[in-house]
Amino acid sequence: MTLAKTEASGGPGLLPEVMAFSSSLSLDRQLLREDLVGSIAHVTMLGRTGVIPLAEARAIRAGLIALWEAQEAGTLVLPQEEDVHMAVEVQLNRTIGAPAALLHSARSRNDQVATDLRLHVREVAAQALASVTALVGELVTRARKEKDVILPSYTHRQRAQPISLAYWMASYGSAFLRDAQALVFVLEQCKLLPLGVGAISGSSLPIDREITRQLLGFEGVTLNGMDTVGDRDFALDLLYATARFFVHASRLSTDLIDFTTQEFGFASLSGDISMGSSMMPQKKNPDVFELIRGKSGKAMGNLMGLLATVKGLPGGYNRDLQEDRASLLETGPLLLGSLSVLRLALPRVTFHPEKCRVGVDEGFTQATDLAEALVKKGMPFRKAYQVVGSLVRRCQEQGINLRQATVELAQAIDPSLDAATLSVLEPAGAVARKLSAGSTGPAAVEATLIALETQAKALAEQGTKVPRLAQVFASLKTQPL
Ligand code: ARG
Repeated sequence: MTLAKTEASGGPGLLPEVMAFSSSLSLDRQLLREDLVGSIAHVTMLGRTGVIPLAEARAIRAGLIALWEAQEAGTLVLPQEEDVHMAVEVQLNRTIGAPAALLHSARSRNDQVATDLRLHVREVAAQALASVTALVGELVTRARKEKDVILPSYTHRQRAQPISLAYWMASYGSAFLRDAQALVFVLEQCKLLPLGVGAISGSSLPIDREITRQLLGFEGVTLNGMDTVGDRDFALDLLYATARFFVHASRLSTDLIDFTTQEFGFASLSGDISMGSSMMPQKKNPDVFELIRGKSGKAMGNLMGLLATVKGLPGGYNRDLQEDRASLLETGPLLLGSLSVLRLALPRVTFHPEKCRVGVDEGFTQATDLAEALVKKGMPFRKAYQVVGSLVRRCQEQGINLRQATVELAQAIDPSLDAATLSVLEPAGAVARKLSAGSTGPAAVEATLIALETQAKALAEQGTKVPRLAQVFASLKTQPL
């Protein structure tokens, strides 16, 4: 059956090949819950406004509720139609008969799909927001526990300066906090209800979008129907927030992949998140982190794909927009799945403080601290920089690290390098002496952790206010009609 055809569109038939080519049902079946919730709200509004008779509105609503329940019970088999919207209407007709023909009054699949997609994006963004803010909280807790672990930081993947592990944790915590902010923005972009604008220009039937808005938990209704049916900005925003999360998650993954190599040796993975090799018996591989990094390519591709789909479309709805489906529907599982595995994996990474300290010393990472100690004694920074550079060179020639340099060796380069000055080379002291805001110094790190904690909590709080699909359905069931 092809419901969306008339004599004018060439009669009911459609080449099976064309039907197969154009059907989105295999993908948008995943939007069934969103579609049913939207239809229940729509029919409630149609009944209340008298656009259709109350008895029929009630029959349709009961039929849609039964479809939701069959779906939840796993017993719903949808007919092969062009898309989920048609499949629901055909199935409704099979179960309740004639009244089903009234459901689509004052509605087009154009505003219907725009509504389903916003409900979907809202649901995914709310779940992701809960998870990413929890991740920030977990990084904060872990940071406090391991604040005394000192490891080298890296620039250009060359050892740079000593930092605390708490600082490393807070660095990714800060990035994930921005992802939480991006998800709040996504929710913001989903707050206007598309339903009621019809195919493009509205309806002459006496509908009331305000009723539907309130029933579906939107904050307002969209401003212009022509824009509404062609707008996928909210979907792009979710894809961008997802791609950006993956940029952060994949950088963190690369750090951990490196840290757990024998070459670094800073950390190791517990057995239950490590993979082996089918051939090399000795292997303990960080596949989980590699997969997170690998999936980031998919997340970015999805964003680029949808941008390309919407670029250059004429105003209003175009069927091209159906191609949003694959990238958008893939995004929820991709984002939520990776977030949850990341949160499982992080506590199963154990850092080795001794190995980290060796990295600090071997990398001459306290060289800047020594230069700053000379600055404190009145030496211009550029001179101190050269003096310490010479000392590093001497140490390298002798195969020793900075802490092994004798006062004699140091003073042969510059007499200001006395024993007291050289004492700044102790790694914990080097970290502790960082006083500036945003630095690795313990007080600055604790201030960062407090900020991360407070802001993550506030963002999570915003997510809890978002009406979730199951709640919307439960409340729709009891609405007066
Ligand atoms: N399956 C379509 C989509 O996902 C629904 C809207 C179809 N509208 C139309 N005028 N053919 O975009």
